[in-house]
Amino acid sequence: MYRLPVKKAVIPAAGLGTRFLPATKAMPKEMLPIVDVPTVQYIVEEAVASGIEEILVITNANKHCMENHFDRNYELEERLKESGKYDLEKMIRDISDMVNIYYVRQKEPRGLGHAILCAKSFIGNEPFAVLLGDDVVINPGGKPALAQLIQAYNEKGASVVGVQTVAPEDVDKYGIVEPSLSSKSIGRRVKLAGMVEKPSIDQAPSNMAVLGRYVLTPDIFDFLETQEAGKGGEIQLTDAIVRLMEVQAVYAYDFEGTRYDVGDKFGFIKATIDFAMARPELSQSVRDYVKELASKIEREECRQE
Ligand code: UTP
Repeated sequence: MYRLPVKKAVIPAAGLGTRFLPATKAMPKEMLPIVDVPTVQYIVEEAVASGIEEILVITNANKHCMENHFDRNYELEERLKESGKYDLEKMIRDISDMVNIYYVRQKEPRGLGHAILCAKSFIGNEPFAVLLGDDVVINPGGKPALAQLIQAYNEKGASVVGVQTVAPEDVDKYGIVEPSLSSKSIGRRVKLAGMVEKPSIDQAPSNMAVLGRYVLTPDIFDFLETQEAGKGGEIQLTDAIVRLMEVQAVYAYDFEGTRYDVGDKFGFIKATIDFAMARPELSQSVRDYVKELASKIEREECRQE
């Protein structure tokens, strides 16, 4: 059982982002903005709000814009100050002051498991968090998703994967967990007997999907180092977690919060609308526009009938 606190996080951002081409040709999908904030900033904010002190981003050749985003931009700060835009100047400075962020390159996109292995020397022998930019989770008034997982880790001293229920027809898009039948779930936490990457609907052990949040013990690296390519020819984190389960307990935690699949175009559009609607300065205009659109669609559908 691990007693060390979770202070480090890994954000893998070296995927090809093929679902968002051509936008992701020269820019990681994690830099796509939801309203005016890049996805990765929401993820970093969640990590910081969950007590994370150091973050390693796994990048590829398209890393510069992400590094620049979290770095100081003295010229811009000066210009904003000169023109009296002190709020904006503070806002962009705060982004670079949020947390210590480090970067390492994954030389080839060999899969999520391989990306996490690139964090081995940064992590050392501590438990750590993993947050995927594909999944943006909000939990207004409640604890951030990662903080909930960290609490579960603190209670059990073991790895915890964040899950939520998905529609049965969507199980083939995710890692799906198999809860252990011999141990009872305690609140939102359940011990796992297995996990399978993107199963078909008839082979899925449940419809609880792993949604981009993990707390892992460093023992995972022993398994990632020897992990062979799995689904899609990629080194899968799921497969290494299944092997970890043979030597230590792994739990799933059904986290509270609304999750947006922003790696998917429609999920991204939904997040954009909802986030814009939650912004005081945009809320009314977006609501009015959505209502106008809804009645236009209704009129069109009536005409077609
Ligand atoms: P995805 O499979 O969702 O990302 O990986 P992708 O490959 O970029 O997306 P599509 O399907 O081609 O559109 C989940 C996460 O793992 C990272 C991705 O950046 C994403 O955050 N990843 C994936 C890596 O860092 N390296 C890899 O080799 C693969």
